[in-house]
Amino acid sequence: MTTPLPKAELHLHIEGTLEPELALALAARNGIDLPYGSADDLRAAYSFRDLQSFLDLYYALMAVLRTEQDFTDLAEAYLARARRQGVRHAEIFFDPQAHTARGVDLRTVVEGLGRALDSAEQRHGITTRLILCFLRDLSAEDALETLESARPYFGTLITAVGLDSAEVGNPPSKFQEVFALAREAGLHLVAHAGEEGPPEYVWEALDLLRVERIDHGIRSLEDERLVERLRRERVPLTVCPLSNVRLRCVDRLEDHPLPRMLEAGLLVTVNSDDPSYFGGYVEDNFRALTAALGLDEEQRRTLAANSFHASFLDDKQRAAYL
Ligand code: ADE
Ligand code: ZN
Repeated sequence: MTTPLPKAELHLHIEGTLEPELALALAARNGIDLPYGSADDLRAAYSFRDLQSFLDLYYALMAVLRTEQDFTDLAEAYLARARRQGVRHAEIFFDPQAHTARGVDLRTVVEGLGRALDSAEQRHGITTRLILCFLRDLSAEDALETLESARPYFGTLITAVGLDSAEVGNPPSKFQEVFALAREAGLHLVAHAGEEGPPEYVWEALDLLRVERIDHGIRSLEDERLVERLRRERVPLTVCPLSNVRLRCVDRLEDHPLPRMLEAGLLVTVNSDDPSYFGGYVEDNFRALTAALGLDEEQRRTLAANSFHASFLDDKQRAAYL
């Protein structure tokens, strides 16, 4: 087996790294009944028709995350795995509203994750950033309240905001105000767009939310003008191939548009999205792409270098990785 290339991971939901074994251990620790007796029972439920069928299980299983220690353990487990997959820098999403809605306060979540992230460089050789994601199927008002409650962490633990959850029917335009406020507060901006949703959502994310990266963006290829815009402005696209197949955005990995995106001159990166649910971490995505699409060494090196170019590292930090 070849050594994984050093890379940055830019599209990773920390809640999507919850492995079945850890979910069961946390359920036992917190006295929570799960309708699954074993890790294999849980894994057997990981068969998805679309994004929503995945989100239903993803939110349900979060019930096991209750204490600061739970969030620390979750992040610590990801960091240890990520390092073995060649990750040197990780910009990590979290979904605060999925926790506050069930009575776990923001402080517990952020400080729990922060405990693992603060020592990540020293313990795992991984630098990190935390990206607060708004759930787009909730209201704009809820997003605004979430932003306000997270202000104490701006610029320290939280350095960016994102937009995720059920895409179709929840266009970026719904969140224009909260993204403008986040921008004024000096945060970086990203958004999921063009995963299941149409190219128009990618235009809106760029023009109305003024995001610096598009998460997924695979449906951009349906719009030539959009591809030209993304190429010209070197807007990074954080693509998640195994996720796209598991959520049936793409039929088979052999049909994945990533090679076409590279050929079109787009700044594409490879990421794992929710690796516990989708069959692999970031290097597993690189290997699966190599097997299915015959990615060559030069393409793999380009993708790894792109991940650092697309990151929010400053120029000096980035230069250390390239
Ligand atoms: N939340 C976690 N994973 C997601 C995905 N792939 N798309 C949208 N929201 C998500
Ligand atoms: Zn995602």
